[in-house]
Amino acid sequence: MRNLIDIKDLSKTEIEELIKVAKDIMQRPEKYSEKCKHKKLATLFFEPSTRTRLSFEAAMIELGGNVIGFSSASSSSTSKGESVSDTIRTVGCYSDIIAMRHPKEGAPLVASNKSTVPIINAGDGGHNHPTQTLTDLLTISCEKKRLDNLTIGLCGDLKFGRTVHSLINAMERYKNIKFVLISPEELKTPEYVKIKMEEGGIKYIETNDIEKYIDELDILYMTRVQRERFFNEEDYLRLKDYYILNKDKLEKAKDDLCIMHPLPRVNEISTEVDDDPRACYFKQVAYGKYIRMALILKMLDIK
Ligand code: NCD
Repeated sequence: MRNLIDIKDLSKTEIEELIKVAKDIMQRPEKYSEKCKHKKLATLFFEPSTRTRLSFEAAMIELGGNVIGFSSASSSSTSKGESVSDTIRTVGCYSDIIAMRHPKEGAPLVASNKSTVPIINAGDGGHNHPTQTLTDLLTISCEKKRLDNLTIGLCGDLKFGRTVHSLINAMERYKNIKFVLISPEELKTPEYVKIKMEEGGIKYIETNDIEKYIDELDILYMTRVQRERFFNEEDYLRLKDYYILNKDKLEKAKDDLCIMHPLPRVNEISTEVDDDPRACYFKQVAYGKYIRMALILKMLDIK
């Protein structure tokens, strides 16, 4: 039985296969519409979500399966004091696969040790978010037609943003990747992530100036300041509008820049950018459903 806790739980070849299947689903969805008949996905979201939970649910429905679950800890027995392990053992009696999001780093890993069905980490604290990374890889593959030879700007909350940690982790496997890490001093990329980049031979530079390297970027990945992970509101208020990407800031950017964002956006991309042909963040949302369809098939071992 497979679990997906960290993006490295999948080999590079497996990721390539998932991308291939996702592209095939986009081409001919009817071929897949009954693949998960009589299968149930449980979405256990102990933390808020719009895209991740609904794309998992839409993915399972489009595969002909069913979904059960909860969208907040307060509506589950967690509010009565039940442990994650007991919740997981229970839900395993009702479902074939579980997608789980939790505010505590490592909770999906703990859950996977007790689970009788495959567990997918749908985000654990400021740690990992492997299915967002699969979404990002499919987006890059479709929009840039390659996963090698890329200069990627990551901008915003690089300290608490789990999507950027997972993406960096995944890109270690591709050739000639360079990261430009753009953040205020207080929200810099954690040391453990930088050490891994160094060990993996990935080049990176750190800056707090979004315009300084914008002309070199193939991808600009914007992120929200992660309010829920801050220790005090004052720091959040001071940092929340540090970067606001607008048309002026994009003036020197390449014509084929791909602007990504895992969403939700708060203020970090001005809505005037939405009509720019380089804005890919809503396409990215759509890709998320197809790669999750491919992932569900893989984890249930359905051909
Ligand atoms: C991200 C997350 O939950 O980490 N959203 C998502 O899953 N698409 C990013 C965020 O919340 O800022």
